[in-house]
Amino acid sequence: MKFIQISDTHLFGDAGKRLLGVDTAATLQAVVELIAEEEGVAGIIATGDISQDGSLKSYQRFDEMLRVPGVPVYWIPGNHDNSANFHQLAPDFPLNSRSVIEAGRWRILLLDSVIPGNDGGHLAETELEYIEKNVDDNGLHYMLVLHHQPIPCGCSWLDTMILNNSAEFLSLISSKPAIRAVINGHIHQSNQQDIGGVSFISTPSTCFQFTPQTSQFSLDSRMPGYRRLSLNDDGSIETEVVRVADFDLNLQQTESGY
Ligand SMILES: [Fe+2]
Repeated sequence: MKFIQISDTHLFGDAGKRLLGVDTAATLQAVVELIAEEEGVAGIIATGDISQDGSLKSYQRFDEMLRVPGVPVYWIPGNHDNSANFHQLAPDFPLNSRSVIEAGRWRILLLDSVIPGNDGGHLAETELEYIEKNVDDNGLHYMLVLHHQPIPCGCSWLDTMILNNSAEFLSLISSKPAIRAVINGHIHQSNQQDIGGVSFISTPSTCFQFTPQTSQFSLDSRMPGYRRLSLNDDGSIETEVVRVADFDLNLQQTESGY
């Protein structure tokens, strides 16, 4: 089963608006055009920070840009999202009755790690219970999806905004060997760490990237992109980041935050 992960689109309601110099709608469009060349996509998963300004229009623009015939698109919220407007447009979050996405021998759970008004993350008791109830030792494989990184990414300034109850989350995961993968956004960079049979994976933003292994805010000139995730029947995963080529980002690398 092939899934596509995109992350941190940071769209505005108004066309042409830029963030750190980058036209976030134009970079998303370039990424979507690449995704359109993929064959056999079972679903696209957007791991939060859909919007930068939180406007209803920004979510409408995202919804319109991500329409790929026959391919469902799943969204989860990030710290930059506006909860009310996000939920007006997000088609499948939370899933009806907190069911799971069924994909061959895989099941995918979408989680909400947002703390309102805070850039860091937390999985509420309801989210942990959702995992507890829906991950079974039934021969199927499971992937969990959240915005915040549950393990340190190596950028100390970003790791101040990590999932703040990651120890509890990781303990729950280790009690459920059917969980094979955890994917997140938030950190605007590619990362993969395989720990105890679980792949912890993040994906570049569709707009601007943060420089890996830095102690302070630092923008990376690497191109926007997406991640291809091939979920195999035996529980293994093949994954690759695909980036747009030679896009004039106009990135304002001297900025110290946003
Ligand atoms: Fe972001």
